[in-house]
Order: sequence, then C-alpha cells, then structure tokens
Amino acid sequence: MLKIGIVTGSTRQGRVSLQVADWVKQIADQRDDASFEVVDILDYDLPAYNEPVPAAFSKDYQTPQAAAWSRKIEELDGFIFVTPEYNRAITSSLKNALDYLHLEFHNKAAGIVSYGSAGGTTAAGQLRMILSVPQVAVVSTQPALNLFTDFEAMSAFKPGEHHLPTVQNLLSQVVSWSGALKTIR
Ligand SMILES: Cc1cc2nc3c(=O)[nH]c(=O)nc-3n(C[C@H](O)[C@H](O)[C@H](O)COP(=O)(O)O)c2cc1C
Repeated sequence: MLKIGIVTGSTRQGRVSLQVADWVKQIADQRDDASFEVVDILDYDLPAYNEPVPAAFSKDYQTPQAAAWSRKIEELDGFIFVTPEYNRAITSSLKNALDYLHLEFHNKAAGIVSYGSAGGTTAAGQLRMILSVPQVAVVSTQPALNLFTDFEAMSAFKPGEHHLPTVQNLLSQVVSWSGALKTIR
C-alpha cells in the first residue's frame, strides 16, 4: 500500500493549516489505493536550520529533532503539501523543514493545496520550484483556497463544494505518480 503524507505548511498559533490538512485527509480516506496521514511539521519542533553539512550530501544530522523528521519523510511514497502564503512566499517554517532533508525526498511525487487571500498561488509556485531540487515530481492539479470565500472570519474553514473534484483529481495524480516513482527507487 502506498503511503502518502499530508504535510502542514504553518506552525503559528491560530493557524488554519491543520484544518485544511484534515479536510484533505477526509477526502483522501475515501480511497482504497493508498493510506494517508497528516504530517504536522509543528510536531517535529525543528529549530532554525544549522547543520554543518547540507542534506544533499549526508543524512548525518547533528540536530536531534531532524532524525524523526527524516524517518517520517523516508517512509512516505508521496506528499500533499498544504501551504499558506506569507509575504508572497511559503512560510519560513515549511522552508526550514524542507531545508533539513534531501535524499529522503528523491523520486517521490507531490501535490500542492494552497490558500491565502488570493489563493496562495505565488507560494504554491515557489514550493513547486523548491521541491524540484530534492527531486520531487509535483503534479499539475493545484487546488487554491481563498481566505475570503473558503473561510469564515478568515479562520473557520468552510470550503466551497467546487473544490472537491479538484482535490480528488489531485489525489488521483499523486497516487498514480507515487506508484510509478516507487518502481525506480
Ligand atoms: C506574515 C503573514 C504574511 C501574509 N502574507 C500573505 C500574502 O502574501 N498573500 C496571501 O494571500 N496571504 C497572506 N497572508 C494571509 C495568510 O495566507 C493567512 O493568514 C493564512 O491563514 C495563513 O495560514 P495559517 O493560518 O495556516 O498560518 C499572510 C499572513 C501572515 C501571518
């Protein structure tokens, strides 16, 4: 069974990232071709990146918290990143978590669900580019949730029904590419 992680993109108090990730998981759990779990970057408590050797060259991490993060990403076959947009970019906490690892991501697939006052698409575009470096193949379908229409008072997540088929397409593409890429790892 393929294992897909739904990765949160924010760690701030009062964040909505977990609500969006849980919603993606609820939709994903209706499938029987992969197992899905929410991977909350907050749980890994990663300090600001301070490794002496870049992850592209070694998995000999000096930061104790990096070991659990590395093991989790290693065991997954694919990812759905749930990313907000902060100042036209992904959050520093998600970028920090991504900077820790490299080899663990190689030849895996991902999809991106973004949100923000204009759908978070600038952050999603950046994330797509960032993920290309550790050789993650990002599928085309990219649901974008709007802070003003998919959230009440910009905090309680009430997604429009029209997002459902887009998320289902995203999941189908990620599962399909995750299976394909597993054959070359
Ligand atoms: C520091 C900061 C910068 C933000 N910049 C943007 C932005 O550039 N574009 C955007 O669409 N929304 C922006 N927002 C709004 C966030 O997308 C919105 O607050 C969202 O809920 C953040 O995700 P989170 O609640 O999971 O942390 C910003 C929010 C913060 C806190």
